[in-house]
Amino acid sequence: MSITINFFEKTKSSNQLLESLNDANYFILDEFENKKEYYDAVKQVLLDGIEKLEGARCRQLVEKYGLCKLHEYFPADKLADLDLFVKGSHQIKKIMLQLTFSVGTNNLQISDEFFMEGNPFAFKISYPHQVAIQSKVTNADYHHKYSELRKKICLEENLKWQLRQTEIKFRGLNIDTLAQTVKSLTKIVVGKIKTFIQSHQKKTLHTYPGFERIAKQPYAAKVHQPHIDSWYGAPLGGTTLWWAIEGATEDNGVVLYPDFFGQAIDFRDIAASSSYLPFGITVTKPHKISVPDGSILLFNYDMLHSSHLNISDYTRIAIISQIYLKLEFNSDALHERGSGFYSSKDIAKGDLENLIKVSMREHFDELHKGKQKPHVEKRISVKVNSDLSAKTPIALCNSDTLGIGEKMLINLRNESVIAIRNANGLRVVSAICPHMGINLIDGFHDEQHIYCPGHGVAYCLIDGSSKCDLLKLEVYHAYDRNGVIFLEKVTSEV
Ligand code: FES
Ligand SMILES: [Fe+2]
Repeated sequence: MSITINFFEKTKSSNQLLESLNDANYFILDEFENKKEYYDAVKQVLLDGIEKLEGARCRQLVEKYGLCKLHEYFPADKLADLDLFVKGSHQIKKIMLQLTFSVGTNNLQISDEFFMEGNPFAFKISYPHQVAIQSKVTNADYHHKYSELRKKICLEENLKWQLRQTEIKFRGLNIDTLAQTVKSLTKIVVGKIKTFIQSHQKKTLHTYPGFERIAKQPYAAKVHQPHIDSWYGAPLGGTTLWWAIEGATEDNGVVLYPDFFGQAIDFRDIAASSSYLPFGITVTKPHKISVPDGSILLFNYDMLHSSHLNISDYTRIAIISQIYLKLEFNSDALHERGSGFYSSKDIAKGDLENLIKVSMREHFDELHKGKQKPHVEKRISVKVNSDLSAKTPIALCNSDTLGIGEKMLINLRNESVIAIRNANGLRVVSAICPHMGINLIDGFHDEQHIYCPGHGVAYCLIDGSSKCDLLKLEVYHAYDRNGVIFLEKVTSEV
């Protein structure tokens, strides 16, 4: 797997760049047309929102110390409202369409028609974990308000779309075209009712316990577990533009899993098991990416990715858009998304309003099925029907059960732990991540760390610590004796 971090290898042709993205590479785009103009305009919208919600003094402080220090001046409880302010901004929509078009045309040099998503664009803002968890405003509170905004935006866009259709139909009006127009408007209304009923049914079908837990988390601490966007209705094989506005470091940004690319996952079980990647699938090495302010991280969003829990000292702000080369969808997608798409052909003519509506159900791509290799993994686990006490070591299994570089899940009666054998011997830590209770056995590990498969936090195998004081694993003591692995509670000298 080759990973290139610098986009501007000018010798590469456009096709090579696109192929490269489709081959699990990712790039940071430092220079693009109108970068400063777009960047300043987005910051302006943010500052206006800050002033509207918290006053002129707060705006001045943020202007002085930077948006990456927003958490020091702007209350975490108002972050959801700031998000909605940005998402509702027509100015941002315009900037994102133009920027996405420009990157697709000028940087990726896509000569064929390509597509971009309608409103609202994904605006991502997160506060450092220790600050964020103080907030009382939950993801459920946010989602309630967000769905109202989304409904409003979709309604506006639909109205504009219907007017445009009517205008087109009425050109050269005669009784046939009028009848046709009435017929197509009726079709739209019926279609909307059907979609509403279907999405409602899907919602009922796919409510799972993971939602409950996520819903109760503070909005300011919102993070996504590993997923692939086409599971949720994004067209297959698109490119994500993850535009870092401010403060994106490897301790709060995107986590990519390029070595996982192209592996088959039966994600239909997601709804029943967890919120994102189902439990039981070991992820590959996480690539944590720091993106300079104003630069864009490009990756194929069919690559498994997640957010990194914000364990930095910065507020992290990013805006995300996508480029779709074709409008084909995963037929197993859990739901439809977006109000429609915009075509590069229209944007090229300066038309930022021509929404293209596509029914996913008519554009399923059956071809991707069966192409992927199934995900194969080796899981070693031991069940012990006793408690771990400080006094008595427990005999677990034969030493050769666990080879160098392997890890093993040990389910005891009172706790779960993970043993890792590396070149320095055996290391044992508690199995459950203290952030959101995800089992670390699905995470990648190396000689020094085990990485949470949820949101990328690295835990030291020697003392269980992470970069965040609030997140620490218990450590235990394990050793080989007479060909058997023994486990005991850690003592002070270990
Ligand atoms: S970092 Fe979120 S569950 Fe582990
Ligand atoms: Fe995503």
